[in-house]
Amino acid sequence: DKGEFRHYMMKEIYEQPKVISACLEGRISESKVLTGCFGADSAFLKEIENVHIVACGTSYHAGLVAKYWIEDLAGLPCSVEVASEYRYRKVAVPKKTLFLTLSQSGETADTLAALRMAKELGYLTTLAICNVPSSTLVRESALTLLTNAGPEIGVASTKAFTTQLTALLITSVAIAVENGLSAEKEKELVQAMRSLPAYVNSALEQDAHIKKVADRFANKNNALFLGRGTMYPIALEGSLKLKEISYIHAEAYPAGELKHGPLALVDEDMPIIALVPHNDMLDKLKSNLQEVAARGGELYVFADKDTDLHNEENIIFTEVPKVDSILEPIVHTIPLQLLSYYVAVVKGTDVDQPRNLAKSVTVE
Ligand code: F6R
Repeated sequence: DKGEFRHYMMKEIYEQPKVISACLEGRISESKVLTGCFGADSAFLKEIENVHIVACGTSYHAGLVAKYWIEDLAGLPCSVEVASEYRYRKVAVPKKTLFLTLSQSGETADTLAALRMAKELGYLTTLAICNVPSSTLVRESALTLLTNAGPEIGVASTKAFTTQLTALLITSVAIAVENGLSAEKEKELVQAMRSLPAYVNSALEQDAHIKKVADRFANKNNALFLGRGTMYPIALEGSLKLKEISYIHAEAYPAGELKHGPLALVDEDMPIIALVPHNDMLDKLKSNLQEVAARGGELYVFADKDTDLHNEENIIFTEVPKVDSILEPIVHTIPLQLLSYYVAVVKGTDVDQPRNLAKSVTVE
């Protein structure tokens, strides 16, 4: 039932504050991550020395964000790979490596094949972060953390992605606690997590503004998404969403790569979508944006208001709530979902059932 919404995708976008709460529920206390949430045997957390993450599509993008968190907070090496590549190569597995899969459906053929292969490779254990409790992936993994997003009907993944990120944040902090993260820092991170549903709510308040931005954007044929750090995987996800439902060709680059090639594409017909985090990368990103502006490119900037960025002749500014940097990738996802949605609506595509795509890719 779509309720008051015209499409499932929009309903699912708006469910995010609620389902992120459901994902946090019972997994954190006032100040700690409750490690029991990984199953009765959370002893594996102490032993992990490496993490391999394997997934497809949007779930893969969630994994890319987690690499930043695991290496930053826990100091452990983490690699992330798409399942269709992983399953067909010889993988070197370091000692005490956690094998972590991410999947909304738990039925993606490549991800299941990767898990089955991994079970023969001497991993410490297998953990699935998944949205469907009765799925094959959950059944075949040793440990599970359910995302609790409820059924996702729209083919383009929205709430499944932000709850995967939430579950990955819980997992990253739990691993970090065993690797020297102070109780004080843990408390700080857990408190940030507790405020996440409210921030997602305030990101949704830009809805009417983004609808207008989409009207201006909808006649474009191409787009370039830029981000740095954890915003780079969010740029990838934003560009995937735009391709999937509006059929606009979009690419994503780490902003620092711009001058290594893609800058050649930039002219008045190539809009840039810039995800601007509020951290020590801010000034670097601003200088990347100047390179674009100097070439007549139209800039769609998503940033908090303290970044000093605002509407200008070639800058279309969208405000994103200012949050703790750990939450930025999740909160920045919301306006990009809304942008793709409204662009697709203007273009009149089948938002919930884009051409050529299936919700669950159970064949190779
Ligand atoms: C994109 C999308 C797909 C899925 C991918 C993996 O919006 O939905 O890219 O993310 O097919 O599916 P799951 O997560 O079910 O393994």
